[in-house]
Amino acid sequence: MATDLHRPVKSTLEPGSAAGAPTSHQDAEAAVRVDGLTRSFDGRAVIDDLDLTLNTGEFTVLLGRSGCGKSTLLRVLAGLDREISGTVLVPRRRAVAFQAPRLMPWKRVWRNVLLGLPGKPERAIAEQALTEVGLAERAGAWPKTLSGGEAQRASLARALVREPDLLLLDEPFGALDALTRIKAQQLVAELWQRRGCAVLLVTHDVDEALLLADRVLVMRNGRIAYDTSVALDRPREVGSPGFTDLRSRLLTELGVEGAGRTQARTESTESPDVSPAHPHPHPRHGDPS
Ligand SMILES: Nc1ncnc2c1ncn2[C@@H]1O[C@H](COP(=O)(O)OP(=O)(O)OP(=O)(O)O)[C@@H](O)[C@H]1O
Ligand SMILES: [Mg+2]
Repeated sequence: MATDLHRPVKSTLEPGSAAGAPTSHQDAEAAVRVDGLTRSFDGRAVIDDLDLTLNTGEFTVLLGRSGCGKSTLLRVLAGLDREISGTVLVPRRRAVAFQAPRLMPWKRVWRNVLLGLPGKPERAIAEQALTEVGLAERAGAWPKTLSGGEAQRASLARALVREPDLLLLDEPFGALDALTRIKAQQLVAELWQRRGCAVLLVTHDVDEALLLADRVLVMRNGRIAYDTSVALDRPREVGSPGFTDLRSRLLTELGVEGAGRTQARTESTESPDVSPAHPHPHPRHGDPS
């Protein structure tokens, strides 16, 4: 597993530091290291002196109330936002997928998958990634002919083709219907296990977090306010004893009123200010889809 840490993002602590800076011993197992990160909009610090280390190969889920700065953090880690202070170390190979698949309508699916790759990569490379997400037969299709779930899988293929050491996913299942969402969750879990890259997934769904994550973070007041590992065997099941305890704790961290008394409920897993809940139960990961 590569830990090719470098400094693609401007650091006001160490101005002018070059990409490809030597990897220190301390960073050997880290995929991401963030120290004292601050990002302000109009004088308001949305990210405020945030520290974070993500471990190589680990699946981390980031939760937090709407507007707390999750997407802002992902954009910084992706290198899309450089108006920051602090130090951000990320792998050279990283990829990001957003809630909206962001496919170019005038390019066929396979060309979308290769978009932005250096050189002249061959169609076969796109087809390989599309095969991984179960979309090989749509390689030649136009994006507008894809279903929402297919478009999201194409977006995942576009991320995979970069062979990322860090995969950043910002609510990638948010716009999908419940069943498609479950399949997409399973797909991401499989891809992560196969690829072994570090994943940082933003979601509002506590159950989704606990089904997928090695570690769950809760962002609040511009920082990581809560950080827990999820030491549950896989495949996981919503409602198992350890699952329920963690779920209750996370809901409390998210400020959901009476979280400790809602354990028996299965429909209100999302923080109260976010997208609509989706039906349950989730199947176990690994169930045939
Ligand atoms: N380009 C921008 N200009 C001004 N304010 C911004 C900009 N981008 C984000 N913000 C503000 O920063 C705050 C955090 O936004 P962000 O999109 O990171 O929240 P989030 O946690 O991802 O929310 P959600 O869960 O709703 O997606 C919000 O108050 C938002 O209005
Ligand atoms: Mg967001």
